[in-house]
Amino acid sequence: MVDFFNGALTSKGGRAIFALTSRNREGKPNILISVRKRPNQFSLWESVTTVVTEYGSVNMKGRSVRERAQSLIDIAHPDDRAGLVAEAKRRKILYPDQIFLSESAHLYPAEIGFQQTFRENIEVRFRALKPSDEENMRQLFYRLSDKSVEYRYFYPIKTMFHSDIQEYVNVDYRHSLSLIGLPDAPDCDRIVAEARFDRLSLQDPYAELSIMVDEAYQHVGVGTYLCRMLSRFAQERHLKGFTADVLTENTKMHHVLKKMGWNMKTQRVGGVNRLTMDF
Ligand SMILES: CC(C)(COP(=O)(O)OP(=O)(O)OC[C@H]1O[C@@H](n2cnc3c(N)ncnc32)[C@H](O)[C@@H]1OP(=O)(O)O)[C@@H](O)C(=O)NCCC(=O)NCCS
Repeated sequence: MVDFFNGALTSKGGRAIFALTSRNREGKPNILISVRKRPNQFSLWESVTTVVTEYGSVNMKGRSVRERAQSLIDIAHPDDRAGLVAEAKRRKILYPDQIFLSESAHLYPAEIGFQQTFRENIEVRFRALKPSDEENMRQLFYRLSDKSVEYRYFYPIKTMFHSDIQEYVNVDYRHSLSLIGLPDAPDCDRIVAEARFDRLSLQDPYAELSIMVDEAYQHVGVGTYLCRMLSRFAQERHLKGFTADVLTENTKMHHVLKKMGWNMKTQRVGGVNRLTMDF
């Protein structure tokens, strides 16, 4: 086993992939907080690049113990995740206030996964946001310029606390959908765009749209594409349209929305355009 890992890691472009089912043949969890008491265990956890189960794949390279735990929990069997979160909190691997939405573990839209080539041949792959994306989501926030932060959040935020970002990444997929874009490079978890819609209740025919694109990926079509894809998923969920609050001076976002061709009503409140858009 050690030779396999070493061989993979020292070969050009090599990576060590550990693939297993989330549960064994007896229906017991394969993803555990500790394997110390297990036979044939090895302690080369730094050597594994990627872990794969039927619930997805996660990149472990360069991640902290907390991030690794959260990533592995995300690909554990959905019925095992609550127990793993509780145990990880007990062992102080996860923060004591770590949120866990048990229904979201079942509702995560794993079927959403696509790739698109944008202007300048920029390739981006897309999937739904999950709790283990917390750190990469925070990094996207810190890479945004002050202007982009103001356009997205309406006031200057300098710090993204764990308590805020974890609420953001623990998406309640009954009411919301969050799509993220990642560069098309192996083991690259950098989030370069996020677009989401949130509705207050299942009866609400409109959901609130919000979007942000990494400055380095702006102006190549990512924002436009994400709005289009989100509206497609929204229509599949029987939504009538989106609402959005957009600063009047945010001409770029207004331009993107205009391109959608949606039937738009605008109410101006101070420096904000309150938009209601029917698909
Ligand atoms: C608004 C935002 C999402 C757009 O993302 P993007 O990936 O750059 O969008 P696209 O590349 O698809 O389209 C940008 C369009 O704006 C146009 N544009 C660029 N600068 C502009 C400006 N100052 N005024 C008007 N349009 C402008 C571009 O020409 C392009 O249109 P085209 O494709 O018809 O040529 C992105 O700029 C962003 O994240 N901004 C900060 C956060 C934000 O404003 N969020 C919206 C509030 S929720």
